[in-house]
Amino acid sequence: MKRLVATALVAGLLTSSASAATIKIGVVGPFSGPFALQGKNFKAGIDAYLATNGNKVGNDTVEVVYRDLPAADPGKSAALSRELVVQEKVQYLAGYYFTPDALAAAQILQEANTPMVIFNAATSAILKASPLAVRTSFTTPQTSAPMANVAKQKGFDKVITVVSDYGPGVDSENAFKAAFTAAGGTVVESIRMPMTTNDFSPILQRAKNSGAQAIFAFLPSGPPTLGFVKAYNENGLKEAKIALLAPGDLAQESDLPALGGAALGLLTTFHYAVSHDSPENKAFVAAAGKAIGNSQELSFPAVGAYDGMHVIYKMIQATGGKQDAAKAVAAVQGFSWTSPRGPVSIDANTRQLTQNIYLREVAKAANGSFMNKEIQTFPNQIDPASK
Ligand code: PHB
Repeated sequence: MKRLVATALVAGLLTSSASAATIKIGVVGPFSGPFALQGKNFKAGIDAYLATNGNKVGNDTVEVVYRDLPAADPGKSAALSRELVVQEKVQYLAGYYFTPDALAAAQILQEANTPMVIFNAATSAILKASPLAVRTSFTTPQTSAPMANVAKQKGFDKVITVVSDYGPGVDSENAFKAAFTAAGGTVVESIRMPMTTNDFSPILQRAKNSGAQAIFAFLPSGPPTLGFVKAYNENGLKEAKIALLAPGDLAQESDLPALGGAALGLLTTFHYAVSHDSPENKAFVAAAGKAIGNSQELSFPAVGAYDGMHVIYKMIQATGGKQDAAKAVAAVQGFSWTSPRGPVSIDANTRQLTQNIYLREVAKAANGSFMNKEIQTFPNQIDPASK
């Protein structure tokens, strides 16, 4: 009898410890260096989700472990991701600001039995690199193609494209070109710049000489976009009546104070504006603003991280906290929810996120600060590169 009770006790202890585990999520992102504000937004989105939803899923406790990857560096991304899996024993890999870093991490998912939830990296084909990858940000084809329609609506027939020469830039250029050409427009020239370019004057001079009525541009959000928009403002393009059109990476809210009045009227297409008018976004901005400290620093990577946590919580529920990457990913194929950005769903086949894309204009808010004001909605946009 005594022994039976003891066995039951031990069994009880074992079951309770097995069903009350700590589940670790490894997050890789730029937490130092020139893109540190983008990583800070990952953390703000995660902290906002934890503050709103708690750190428990059933009996399990969620713990987030961070690794700093300041710049695009696929070798270091693979090493940090492997370290998170092997040493930290994370069950989920998440984050990844730059495409090359997400692509490198995608290579280890299968052997590690670990899903990857991408909070930002936006090249369409990343999801083809592993069946265990999903994404809660956007693809640049998705955010760029609607701008072709806007360009036509504005009466532009000739556009020059200027993009950073790597995955999301090439994707953006291709998607804009295809949609603009289909709408009857002409892309007069396409310039691809090395990611390290920071003197944009010669490129803007070429744009001036190209005969284009507008520039369509993509660069990764951070110092490059701030520098490019500043150079556009300072190189007489507006006076020459050459418009700037871009996906919203070029007008992230955290850059608007530095751009000041010169950015007023800038048109961009994107999945998320901090000003988005919905109860879900008001709650999100309150929580993420508190997490980041200065709400003027809030930008789109925070919403990618917040929704990414939502997807990971769903995966933890579906697997009962057990490490089963295939089951976790299957559980979110077709998953839909109301994000701070609006309605979203993970496509059951492509795993790309279907979402609204908004046309926004930089405007002055009632309190004198600058904002992206949503003025048109392109509803339920799929990733056009996954058709
Ligand atoms: C990317 O590398 O995929 C990337 C980075 C920053 C952006 C968009 C895409 O703003």
